Amino acid sequence: MSLLDLVRSDLRDFGGYGSARKTGLKGSVWLNANESPWASPADPGQALNRYPEPQPEALKTRLAALYGVSEDSVLMTRGSDEGIDLLTRALCRAEHDAILVSPPTFGMYAVCARVQAAFVVTVPLIDTGKAFRLDVDSVLRTLELSVAKAPIKIIYVCSPANPTGAAVVLSEIERLLVGVAGRAIVVVDEAYAEYSDHPSALTLRERFDFLVVFRTLSKAYALAGARLGITLADPALIRVLNAIAPPYPLAQPAVALALDAVSESAADEAQRRAGRIAAERERVAAALSRLSGVLSVYASDANYVLVRFFDAEAAFQGLLSAGVVVRDQRAQPGLGNALRITIGSIEENDALLSALNALETIRA
Ligand SMILES: Cc1ncc(COP(=O)(O)O)c(C=O)c1O
Repeated sequence: MSLLDLVRSDLRDFGGYGSARKTGLKGSVWLNANESPWASPADPGQALNRYPEPQPEALKTRLAALYGVSEDSVLMTRGSDEGIDLLTRALCRAEHDAILVSPPTFGMYAVCARVQAAFVVTVPLIDTGKAFRLDVDSVLRTLELSVAKAPIKIIYVCSPANPTGAAVVLSEIERLLVGVAGRAIVVVDEAYAEYSDHPSALTLRERFDFLVVFRTLSKAYALAGARLGITLADPALIRVLNAIAPPYPLAQPAVALALDAVSESAADEAQRRAGRIAAERERVAAALSRLSGVLSVYASDANYVLVRFFDAEAAFQGLLSAGVVVRDQRAQPGLGNALRITIGSIEENDALLSALNALETIRA
């Protein structure tokens, strides 16, 4: 089975929209894209009267070096949210194909499937009380049982996982890839990889052409507002995703900013900051677990911790009234008493801890 057999047959040879920038024509007088000949008075000198490169070469080159892959394995999108959407649409036939997710997990996998009218098959994570583990055996069994009527096309592995925090060890990802054996695409979403000491699944990319890795500049690179996500995959799949992507997905100011944000020195700084967040995570987790209102704090490899409370409603509302906004996870399966708390600056974390301490004092 070849990788492209997993792609919708109607999209395998689809060339997409032939935008003015895709033609590759050279010249000095540009009259092919109905642009304004003048820059806007508001333009800070970026020639924004011109359409941007669909996949900016300089940024692609730098990202390929950063992640240690070839340039034709890189697709840049408006956040990895858009990468998830493109992948779903490229692989899943509406009302026919399925994706597999392991809840509790990041919601966008199922949202994109829903929009594409694809089915969502679930294999819950295993809750050990200290961490959530991917159930590789059940995922493989479920793939085995998946019927021709609704074949599973994409298996999502979130590592470090959102909202649970735990990274999946590389040997488990490898075991999954070996078991799947190209019958589905395996996505490892590494949005939070920089906060973790676990090796990246990118080290397995060369060996498994049906492995897709998502990275983002929204977290450790501090560019959530610029919207820059990266899909790292086999060049044949990247070509398909590129063909169905919007003609000019990336705004030029965001591209310029991203290029600076991933320079060698900026990348070093991003990694140093991620280390500081990881150290804060351990301090906050230890302080949280000493609170009597806290049932458990899950081990985390990311920039947040998942916490179970005796009274999650009181904790959530109490924090809100102190101006501290955390993420309510109670609607997620198995997380009826849990909140996800992002690790912020030392001052922000202290504000969180003192608000929770104040709540304990009131209750006592
Ligand atoms: C696991 C995971 N994947 C992807 C994303 C989306 O990130 P982006 O900002 O790149 O769209 C998030 C955002 O929170 C996330 O938690």
